[in-house]
Amino acid sequence: MVRVRPMNLRLDGEAVLALQQETYCTNFPGFQYGIEFEREFSRQLRHAERPDREELFVAEMNGQVVGFLWMGTLLAEFSPEPVQAIVKNVSVAPERRRQGIGRLLIQHGESWAMARGAPRVRLQVTVSNAAAVALYHDLGYSVDRYEMTKPLGSVSESGGLTPNG
Ligand SMILES: CC(C)(COP(=O)(O)OP(=O)(O)OC[C@H]1O[C@@H](n2cnc3c(N)ncnc32)[C@H](O)[C@@H]1OP(=O)(O)O)[C@@H](O)C(=O)NCCC(=O)NCCS
Repeated sequence: MVRVRPMNLRLDGEAVLALQQETYCTNFPGFQYGIEFEREFSRQLRHAERPDREELFVAEMNGQVVGFLWMGTLLAEFSPEPVQAIVKNVSVAPERRRQGIGRLLIQHGESWAMARGAPRVRLQVTVSNAAAVALYHDLGYSVDRYEMTKPLGSVSESGGLTPNG
């Protein structure tokens, strides 16, 4: 049986950190995961643990942490909805995937958001992350903005840019 509960940074920190290398390397191709990142991530978790506009949850199964959810709220600019909720991070242990834990976590986050008066949940996901994209579609999320990118070529030895294409 899986239950979602607030994260205890001291008890769950290591298990949550263990899920992050794949999460970041999947979503940000070429990302250099290392000790500096872990320090900064841990610092941000400590900050988020203070109960104000963010909340951290874990999914627990037989006493083991098998998933993580980081929810936040933001004051939306250019929107008639002053408060929106945001999924900042969701991850499930590789050996526990496709068992409904990701879905359970996001639904928990949606209830958290509604309880805070947020009429909308927002999130960002990398297009190549097929599992996450499928999960969000399955839960009713749709694309309302594109974030676009264009490689500008590589820097040559002399420091100039070599254009692509
Ligand atoms: C994305 C992630 C959280 C999904 O967690 P999960 O527990 O495996 O997801 P669920 O079992 O709840 O899946 C729910 C639905 O999402 C879809 N889905 C999830 N994983 C999928 C996959 N690999 N391929 C296709 N569809 C998938 C399916 O519709 C699934 O329903 P079904 O199993 O009944 O077909 C997990 O793959 C993960 O931790 N990935 C690495 C971290 C990451 O990239 N997080 C997202 C950051 S934006």
